[in-house]
Amino acid sequence: MNSKKPNIIAIINQKGGVGKTTTVVNLATAIAAVGNEVLVVDLDPQGNATTGFGIHKGRGLQSSYGVLLGLTDPREIIQNTYVNGLHIIASTIDLSAAEIELFPQKDRDSKLKQAISNLNYDYILIDCPPGFGLININALNASNRIIIPLQCEFYALEGLAQLFNTIQSVRNTINKNLIVSGILLTMYDRRNGLSSVVANDVRSHFKNLVFNTVIPRNVKISEASSYGKPVILYDVKSSGAISYIELAREFLSREVQ
Ligand SMILES: Nc1ncnc2c1ncn2[C@@H]1O[C@H](COP(=O)(O)OP(=O)(O)OP(=O)(O)O)[C@@H](O)[C@H]1O
Ligand SMILES: [Mg+2]
Repeated sequence: MNSKKPNIIAIINQKGGVGKTTTVVNLATAIAAVGNEVLVVDLDPQGNATTGFGIHKGRGLQSSYGVLLGLTDPREIIQNTYVNGLHIIASTIDLSAAEIELFPQKDRDSKLKQAISNLNYDYILIDCPPGFGLININALNASNRIIIPLQCEFYALEGLAQLFNTIQSVRNTINKNLIVSGILLTMYDRRNGLSSVVANDVRSHFKNLVFNTVIPRNVKISEASSYGKPVILYDVKSSGAISYIELAREFLSREVQ
C-alpha cells in the first residue's frame, strides 16, 4: 500500500465562534473535490464538524475521544461522508473528559500525533476547540500547518499575540516543523466599515501571512450547517461557497511553493 505522509493542518484560534469549524468543513470539502484523500478530525466536544457533515451523534458512536487517549485505532472508526474522498473521525461529548484523563499521562502531548501521523491521506484537517487545553496542544504537536481564522470584528486582534506565543513555545519544545500557513479573515461584512478597518489592520501587522482570500459574512453558510451540509454542496453559487473554493486554491498553491 502506498504510504504517504499526510499534510496535517490544525484550524485553531482560542476564541470561540470565529469560523474554525466552518473553515474545516468547507476547506476539507473543496480540497477533496479536486481529487485529494482528506480526513477531518473533529477534536471539539461540541462536535460541530461532525454534525456539519450530517452525522448523527447517537449512542454508540465511536469518537476522537478513544483516538486521543490511545484506546481506539483510528482506522476502525473513520467514517465516510457523502463527499467523495472525504472521511471523518467524529466527536462526541465524552471528549470533554479527555483533558482530565490525559493530564496524568507522561506522553499526554503526543497522543494524537502517535495516532494519526501515519494515516494514509493527502490532507488531515483538525477542528480544534476554543481555548488552550491539552486537546489543542495535541493538535499543534500532530500538525505541520496551522490556519488561524480571524473574525473581522473589533476584538479580533486581542488574543492573537497569546496564540502566537503558544505556537512558538510548541515549536521550541515539541514540534519544530509547525508552520503558520495563514491567517484567514472570516465573516467580512462589506456594509460594515469596521470589517475593512480590522482587515487593513490585520494585513498591516501580518502582511503576507494573511490569505488574500477573505470569507464574507453569508447567510448561506449558517443555513448550510443547519442542514448538515458544507455550503459548497448546499449552494455552490453563494459568495460563501465561492470564497471557500478560492481559499482551497490559495492554500494548495502556498503548499507547492
Ligand atoms: N462567513 C460566515 N457567514 C455567516 N455565518 C458564519 C460564517 N462563518 C461562520 N458562521 C456561523 O457563525 C457561527 C460560528 O462559526 P463556527 O462554528 O465555524 O465557529 P468556531 O470558531 O468553530 O466556534 P467554536 O469556537 O464554538 O467551535 C456558526 O453558527 C456558523 O454557521
Ligand atoms: Mg467550532
